[in-house]
Order: sequence, then C-alpha cells, then structure tokens
Amino acid sequence: MTTERKPLLEIRSLTTVFPTRRGLVRAVSGLDLTLARGELLGLVGESGCGKSVSMLSILRLVSHPGRIVAGEVLLEGQDLLRLPIHAMRQVRGRQISMIFQDPMTTLNPAFRVGDQIAESLRIHGMLNGSGSSIWPFNRGRAEAERKRVVELLDEVGIAVPWEARKRYPHEFSGGMQQRALIAIAVSCHPKILLADEPTTALDVTIQAQIMDLLRRLNQEHGTSVILVTHNLALAATFCQNIAVMYAGRLVEKGSTDAVIEDPRHPYTRGLLECIPKIGATRQPLQPIPGNVPDLAELPPGCAFHPRCKKAQDACQEGEIPLVTLEDGRQVRCLLYV
Ligand SMILES: Nc1ncnc2c1ncn2[C@@H]1O[C@H](COP(=O)(O)OP(=O)(O)OP(=O)(O)O)[C@@H](O)[C@H]1O
Ligand SMILES: [Mg+2]
Repeated sequence: MTTERKPLLEIRSLTTVFPTRRGLVRAVSGLDLTLARGELLGLVGESGCGKSVSMLSILRLVSHPGRIVAGEVLLEGQDLLRLPIHAMRQVRGRQISMIFQDPMTTLNPAFRVGDQIAESLRIHGMLNGSGSSIWPFNRGRAEAERKRVVELLDEVGIAVPWEARKRYPHEFSGGMQQRALIAIAVSCHPKILLADEPTTALDVTIQAQIMDLLRRLNQEHGTSVILVTHNLALAATFCQNIAVMYAGRLVEKGSTDAVIEDPRHPYTRGLLECIPKIGATRQPLQPIPGNVPDLAELPPGCAFHPRCKKAQDACQEGEIPLVTLEDGRQVRCLLYV
C-alpha cells in the first residue's frame, strides 16, 4: 500500500495504564481510532473516560507513572511508539501538535507571548531552513522571527499583533490566551492538531470564534483536527465525524449526521438524551443512570453494561468486538455482532 492510501493516523489497540495503590488504572484500553487527511474528528465522552490520556499517548507525553503498554500509533504507516526519542521530538509540533487542556499550564507566565511563539519556531528550526524565512545575519534573523510571530498572532485573530506580542500571558483574556496557544501549536504547520477541550473555559461567543479559527486552519492548511470535548453538541456543530469513548475504549464512531440522528450504541443514545434542546417543549433531561466505572476495577465484558437499558447476560462476558456496520459506522456493542 502506498503512503497516500494509508490513513493519516491510525491508532490500534492502544493501552495506557497508571499503576496506583488501588491497582492498575486502565485509562485507555485497546483504543482503535483512525483519522483521515483533512478530517475534523470530535472525540467525546464523560469526564475521566481517557480522552486526554489518549491524546497524550499519541505524542508519548503520558506523565509518570503512566505507561503505554500495548498498541500502535501509526502516522502515515510509521509506528510512533517505536520511534527513537530524538525522532519523536521531530514529530511533536512539526507533524502533530497539541493544544493542552489548561492554557495557563502551557503558557509560561514569566515570558512575553511573542517570545514564547518565537521559541517554538526556533526549537523546530522554522527560521533557518528553506523557505521565505531565511535571513543571512542574526539581526535579520531576529527581524524574520518578529515578522513571523506577528503573522501568526494576526492569523489567529489577535488585534494589533505587533503590540500584543510584547505582552505577558496574564495581560491576555482567556480567549486571547487560547488564540496564543493555537498560534504556538500551528506555528510549524503540523499535519494534525490535537485540541484538548480548547474552549471549555470560554464563554459561548468566544467559543464560537475559536471554533471558527480551527475550522479556518483546517480549510486553509488542510490540518486534520481531533477536537476533544465532553460537549457532544459542540462536536456535532464543528466535526464531520464523531468518536465516542467510554471507560478508555472507543464505543462508536461515524459521520456526525449518522451518530446524532441514529446513534447505535446505548451509551451514545444516553449522551444525546442529556443534551437540552432549545425551542423544544420542556421535557426533562434523561441522565444516564449510575456512574462511570472505576478504571482500576472495570466490569468484565462491556464496561457500560451495568448502566445499559439493553444489557443482556452475554454483555458481562469476554471482549466485545468493534464491528463495522454497512454505513461504515463502527460500534462496540453485542446488539450489532
Ligand atoms: N497521573 C495519573 N495517575 C493516575 N491515574 C491517572 C493519571 N492521569 C489520568 N489518570 C486516570 O486516567 C483516567 C482518564 O483521564 P483523562 O484525563 O484522560 O480523562 P478525560 O476523558 O480527559 O477527562 P476530562 O473530560 O475530565 O478531561 C482518569 O479517570 C484517571 O483515573
Ligand atoms: Mg481531559
């Protein structure tokens, strides 16, 4: 198979664990997920279901004592989990970039925003390689760096960018901080952007602007995006496809229309019933009964079975396979086996 035909990113049976006093926490268990070139994919699921750990695992940034114990993360067919660490550093930022869940843990409060963007350009050699940014002298190079930083701040919609670059993160509003992070993340034109809850802390109007910005980057540069969110409505508005995770596993993936209009996994159905609909007659929301399972003591069989209205005895036994339905949708549920 040629590189072109392979999915841009293919995650196979990814398993990431955290040894704890309570036992082994299986944050991600046998995750299978693919991302095509130019795809906008929403990754949704309740808090603690392993969304962030999955994204960190792709970049091999899971913090100690977490460990990736099985699986493959294929970027254009090359397994990132088997790359030497120096080669992995080349992948981060240049091929796959991440917007982390909390902006203020990524931006350093002690440095000006513009300097932090310039640092990212320098680390990835974006100003001394080929292209329009070559400058023969150091003074010229500093000038080129400034120019590129201003371009990036402008691209992410920060007003008066040549002034804004001199400010410190605390002088930025939440929306501007998130834009600055996006500027850092896209500074090296990555093929894939992992955006982990990029708008959770922002009000809805700023949220819409940030989502517009991500969509524009996708359209203009062809950047594929995984939007991690617990907000299914947001994912449905922004993404072509939606993947639903439960207890560290993929339980359903399909086109947004298919998943929203005809959800197949009982968990996806449950999530949809929890979304309020503006304009609809006032119907009480239907919360999913029970709680997310303890990832150190996952129930046997389907981890959702204790909360599932359609559970059968067989749901409590063995591995439940991920099945591909006729419309290309993937579901991990015995109802479809
Ligand atoms: N450092 C750690 N030590 C032990 N367990 C951890 C650690 N980090 C994550 N986990 C476990 O991994 C699970 C998945 O965490 P993760 O941060 O991926 O959830 P999430 O889906 O991103 O949730 P949220 O929507 O709240 O961000 C958590 O439930 C937690 O039990
Ligand atoms: Mg998270």
